[in-house]
Amino acid sequence: MKKTISFLMLIFLFSCQAADRTIYLFIYNMEDPYIEVLGEEIVRLASENHRIELVDAQNSQIIQNETIEEALKEKPSLLIVNPVDRLGAYPIIDKAKAADVPVIFINREPLERDLKRFDRAFYVGALAEQSGMLQAELVAELFGNDPGSLNHHDKNDDNVIQAIIFKGEQGHQDAELRTTHVVRELEERGFELDILTTEIANWNTEIAYEAARTLFESDQDQVEVILSNNDAMALGIIDALIEYGYFSAMNDDGTVDQNHESWMPILGIDGIDQAVERMRSGHLYATVLNDALGQAEATVELAEAILSGEDLDALDQIVDDRYVWVDYKKFVLNTE
Ligand code: GAL
Repeated sequence: MKKTISFLMLIFLFSCQAADRTIYLFIYNMEDPYIEVLGEEIVRLASENHRIELVDAQNSQIIQNETIEEALKEKPSLLIVNPVDRLGAYPIIDKAKAADVPVIFINREPLERDLKRFDRAFYVGALAEQSGMLQAELVAELFGNDPGSLNHHDKNDDNVIQAIIFKGEQGHQDAELRTTHVVRELEERGFELDILTTEIANWNTEIAYEAARTLFESDQDQVEVILSNNDAMALGIIDALIEYGYFSAMNDDGTVDQNHESWMPILGIDGIDQAVERMRSGHLYATVLNDALGQAEATVELAEAILSGEDLDALDQIVDDRYVWVDYKKFVLNTE
């Protein structure tokens, strides 16, 4: 009898401990406005059933490595990691494997061969190619959808789109693929493109603001569209251009007159609230939704499935045993 009780108690204690174990969420930098939303959504959803702890690496892979090592000592139930550097995922995977703690990467995709080092390592994200292609679709719509005869947005009437690109972090998959695919998709649709400059502004509003200020110090009348790899940079570009007199003509309802010569079409990606506001006011032409809520839901659902020991093969959304992809969507306000 005594034996049975202590055995039952052990099971009870063990299950309490398992239920109490923490999910750790490691974020590369909470000052990044898109990542802030993604991180907060994951915490909100996961905290319904779990204890979750968010750790901000403040853009330092060293801090992230150290804090992950510390967390693993506590035997957490699961790690969710937004790596500072995608190549930094390799040692994280090996450490998680040694501690037998499952790990879901988000937002910055580890190399496939690194992810495959551990059968309990996963990735939830969005296909960057798709966002570039959707941005291209929006540009095509802006110029009237007919590559043989561009509309009035072709300011110099040469039937070529003169564009500037603002790129995120060099080497970041989203930055590289968005840049390549926005251009490729437009060309495949038959549009001729002249990329006047590519500025690298690390996803960051202030850096983009400074770069745009410098660039537009000299006359940029030939620019017909600005393609930004994300919204945060688009917001900085808008602020800089306002200082140079762009967006100065207003409609009666107080929005920016997009048919006036002082308007500059700028496109972003992400769909953060600040960008939607700029779309409402008419400054930002359009963006592509990088669905933070959808990605947070997919991450937490996968975490739940892993923690409950569900057969992951049965999950519809799992691709190649370890990937979950969330679609991008075009995001334009109906200005009619
Ligand atoms: C991208 C996002 C950017 C930036 C980056 C950070 O997916 O569009 O705004 O947050 O992730 O890795």
